[in-house]
Amino acid sequence: MKVGIDRIGFYTARYYLPLETLAHQRGVAYEKFRTGLGQERMAVAPPDEDIVTLAASAAEPLLREDGVENIDLLLFATESGIDQSKSAGLFAHGLLGLPPACRVVELKEACYGGTAALQLAAAMVARRPGSKTLVLASDIARYELGSPGEPTQGCGAVAMLVSADPRILALDPERGLHAEDVMDFWRPNYRDEALVDGKYSTRVYLSTVVETWQRYAKESGRSVDDFARFCYHLPFTNIARKAHERLLKSAGRDAVTPEQIEAAVGGGLAYNRQTGNSYCASLYESLVCLFDQCAENLEGRRLGLFSYGSGCMGEFFSGVVQPGYRQQLRTEQHQRLLADRTELTYQEYEDIFNLKVPQDGWDYAFAQYRTGTFRFGGIAGHKRRYERAA
Ligand code: HMG
Repeated sequence: MKVGIDRIGFYTARYYLPLETLAHQRGVAYEKFRTGLGQERMAVAPPDEDIVTLAASAAEPLLREDGVENIDLLLFATESGIDQSKSAGLFAHGLLGLPPACRVVELKEACYGGTAALQLAAAMVARRPGSKTLVLASDIARYELGSPGEPTQGCGAVAMLVSADPRILALDPERGLHAEDVMDFWRPNYRDEALVDGKYSTRVYLSTVVETWQRYAKESGRSVDDFARFCYHLPFTNIARKAHERLLKSAGRDAVTPEQIEAAVGGGLAYNRQTGNSYCASLYESLVCLFDQCAENLEGRRLGLFSYGSGCMGEFFSGVVQPGYRQQLRTEQHQRLLADRTELTYQEYEDIFNLKVPQDGWDYAFAQYRTGTFRFGGIAGHKRRYERAA
């Protein structure tokens, strides 16, 4: 029985800061961000968007079209948690009108959470093939102002419906896993911004690519020639090129040209270049981008996916693109979303950055910004209040 991604949708905030503006403000050459990191814009969530509204807005169009019937599991993957106890998934469950006979939990392992959710969803669907799981991967990436991580900030959410006989991507059972206790990037409970040992995190990411690929190749017996394209977790897009070069070299391909690398990974980079890091959603944002933008028909072709979460947990896995997948995509809506965003000035970005959710226990109503279908309206009696956007 095939199990995998039946529908997939992406949403990001309606505001962005051009990295040219940030480079100018920080006295850095824009080329460092544009060519060195491979980033052009960062998506900025206004005060009335959070991981719940981003995720619910990514899922709502899919559920409007497909209905909520048979969804008996909602897995919410995030590292920008809003509550130490209640799952962000329950807020999304309410907003999306999902059935009450549904398991709802939140998962965390840095940016790997989305992949943990997808693989657990596939296992649960295999156990009850008539059921569906809604996977929500949603994050807002924050680093300190002026830090090396700042130009890689961003936000976004991907919603995936996982089912038997999926219409987009059937997941293969083989995988290469790698877990290791390292401190490359973390966010203690008392901080809003991540702490990161940037260069070290990049080295651990790249060595994890090799570990997971080698385990995957051994288990599956497949070689790099068995894949049409590769998608990588994208903290910044240039890392995909370095990662793929490492993977090819570890697979014994020494004479690798930039053209070969571009052909394998280039198709999945454009959206992330415009949004920045969306942590748990990042790999799946890249997958959506590949589906939306790849001119070649990928039906029947195998894709390789590398997921990385700091701390660290890595997985290389794969899936086969299903016949007719293009009819299930939301290409036009995704492209319109990215094209129709409001540009911020540097000062507007810094004001939003500093406007944190109040922690003093008073009631607050947040001003209406441009949002998706849902907005975070405010706080009353320590309870977050969500509503449909006007
Ligand atoms: P940095 O020190 O600002 O940058 O930090 P750099 O000096 O390493 O330069 C970056 C690139 O720009 C280099 O390219 C430079 O040569 C180039 P490379 O040599 O690497 O190919 N460059 C230029 N290019 C053109 N024109 C110029 C120019 N100047 C320099 N004028 C760093 C970079 C990524 C470390 C920083 O942004 C950072 O700390 N980011 C956050 C951490 C991160 O993204 N780590 C990635 C791996 S860990 C991960 O993926 C997990 C994560 O998503 C979190 C999670 O799992 O939850 C982050």
